[in-house]
Parts: sequence; C-alpha cells; structure tokens
Amino acid sequence: MQVAILGCGVVGRGTADLLTANAEAIAARVGGPVTVKYILERREIPDCPYQALFVKDFETIVSDPEVSVVIEAMGGSHPAYDFSLRALEAGKHVITSNKEVVANFGVDLLRVAREKGVLYLFEASVGGGIPVLHPLASDLSGNLIDSISGILNGTTNYILTRMYEAGASFADALAEAQEKGYAEANPAADVEGLDACRKIAILAAIATGTLVRTGDIHTEGITAIRSADVSAASSLGYAVKLLGRMVRTAAGEFFLMVAPFLVDKANPLAGISDVFNGVMIHGNFVDNVLFYGRGAGACPTASAMVGDLLHVALGGAPYHSAWRAAEEGDLTDFSYFAARRYLAVGDCERNSVEVIFGDAEFLASPAGEIQLLTPPMSEREYEDKATRLSSCGGKILSHIRIL
Ligand code: HSE
Repeated sequence: MQVAILGCGVVGRGTADLLTANAEAIAARVGGPVTVKYILERREIPDCPYQALFVKDFETIVSDPEVSVVIEAMGGSHPAYDFSLRALEAGKHVITSNKEVVANFGVDLLRVAREKGVLYLFEASVGGGIPVLHPLASDLSGNLIDSISGILNGTTNYILTRMYEAGASFADALAEAQEKGYAEANPAADVEGLDACRKIAILAAIATGTLVRTGDIHTEGITAIRSADVSAASSLGYAVKLLGRMVRTAAGEFFLMVAPFLVDKANPLAGISDVFNGVMIHGNFVDNVLFYGRGAGACPTASAMVGDLLHVALGGAPYHSAWRAAEEGDLTDFSYFAARRYLAVGDCERNSVEVIFGDAEFLASPAGEIQLLTPPMSEREYEDKATRLSSCGGKILSHIRIL
C-alpha cells in the first residue's frame, strides 16, 4: 500500500515517524509494506529526514494511481477540505486529524466517500490518541447515547493543570503547550473553546447522526477563570475542567455546549490532568463508559492516524453512518439548560446578593467579593438575576456551572 501525507508539521511528521519506526510490524500485520510515497510540503525543512519525499503540487498525489490513501495533516479548512474532497472523488481513502474540516464539512465528505466506495476516517480528530470515535460509532451504536461529557482539549487541560498545580502563569503554561506541539497554530482556538467545540460537534454527530454547526454551539473558553475560583472550587471538593457536553433531553432533542465546569473530585474526569483527555459517554443500556489517554501531541495523534490506516489496509468496513446537517429543532435552546452554579460577585452589598440569590449557599469568601453556590437554575433565570444584580451596581466576577 502506498500513501501520501499532506503536511509535514507536528502530526504529519509524527505519522511518518510511526510508519518508519514500526514498518516491520505494520507490514507483518497487513501482509505487505505500507510505504509513504509523497509528503505534500511547500516549506523547506532542512533537518527533516523525509525531504526526498516532498512534493509541492497536490496534482502529483491525486493523479498517481499507486497512491490509495491520503493522510491529511495540514490543519485549517482550506485547502485541506478541497484536497480531501478531490482525493475522495479520485477514489482514494482519506484519513485526517483535522477536526476543523470534519466539523465544518463532515456531511459532504462522508457522502462523497460513500458514493465513491472509499473510507473517510478521522479517529485522530477527537481525543488525540484515544480510540473513541470508532467505539462510539460501532461498539456502542446499539445504545441511545444520553450524554457525553469530555475533556476534549489537551492544551487547556495542560494550562489549567500547570497553573493550578505548579503555579505557572497562563502565558508560560500556554508557551509550554505550544513548545510540546499540543496547541493549534492559533492557540485562541484552544483557550477560547473552539477546538473543543469542533470535537463535541463530531462526537455528537456520531452519537446522533446530526452534525450541528459550531456557530450554533454555546462555547466558552478558559480565559476568564481566576485562581481565586480554582482555590474556592478546590476547597469545596471540585476541580475546574473545560468540558464539551452533549445532553439529550426527554423530548429527544439535545443541548450542546463547551464551558468550564466544576467537577466533583469523586468524578473520574476531575482527576484527568496535563495533556490527557477523557470522554465519559452514557448509553441507555451500557451506562457510563470512560475513554482516557493523551489528547494531543505528535505520537498519540500519529497512533490514531495509523490505526485508521491499518483499518483501511485490512479492508475494514466504513464505520461512520451518513450524517445530516442539523435543522432547527434538533438543538434545544440553550437558555433552558439548567445547572447549579458557582458565582463570585463584586462591587455589591451582601444584602443585595442575598435578595437576588436568596436560596444560594454563601461561601467564606476572599475580601472584595462574595462567592456562592446556587441551586439548579436555567441560563435564562441566571441571566435575569445577573441583570438585576448589575442594575444594583453588582458585577459578576466569575460564573462557572457545576457538573
Ligand atoms: N490543540 C489540540 C489540543 C490538539 O490541545 O487538544 C489536538 O486536537
């Protein structure tokens, strides 16, 4: 089998390294060598051992009948989507780690793959090296999936861990994540929640068959989290985690969101730190299943890419069903989402906070702010109370939902 890799960045290089290091075992497994014939790379990378394979023109790859699999590791929507589409149309299997392309164009690409009788596989796009998409699409597919709660971004989990367990600054922790090859080219996609948003959209599409536009998913990142919040959470027995969540309602619609949550330390998700990801899936017959492993980085992502490649090489069947694009009514209005909430309020007399949030539990708080835990309330109720508070001059310093 001859393959082409698009891009020789962190993931493309890692995939070539794995195929080189484990070549013998892979050949034995699939009954013949798996060879990288080309790497599409426009940059000069003088110390790269694969330079002899570099080509600059995608036409060389798409027009070569010997290349049966294209491994897309370019990142970004374009030209990654365009090249993936052309490769599928040319009857080549496509494997990718590109969550942006899968979340934006998965409906079309899966349809074209099906029409052409080839596979479009993207295990590496969610959870780095964790096998989660294939099990969700196959082993768990007899269940109705009631909920998914996942730590889906390695960079933000690494930052939260380094900041709050090792006292690193946000900027230093982010720089470390970038140096280790965890962060996106533009790390705003990590810290503002967009990367996790793409991943929960993909997980939910597998669970429900419906792909929701990322712009329709309520998304918050970690930039507003303060160390005072993490200390308060910790003393109450919670960890702060950025979660992607899908929650099915009794009416069969679902909520989708990305936001920081306080997670009870008794919940296994609370103990997942550094670059590790964890995805808890609840099926109506299986109950909870937890997937755990490294969520980013060259080697884990290469592991998932090559797992898909071997699935193709061994003649595996397509395991993703066709997706449809979400329509109005698939997604429940987020303003109805109910949760307990941790709040920190400033610039306000305690009396006013008590009048507005009278049924809350007030915490021993640092000077200058009032921290409290509310009973369950919807987003709408919370927004109403926050508006009343600001009309008395109060300011919400922090608002974190409780899982
Ligand atoms: N930037 C992503 C993360 C890479 O930190 O999780 C893996 O998708």
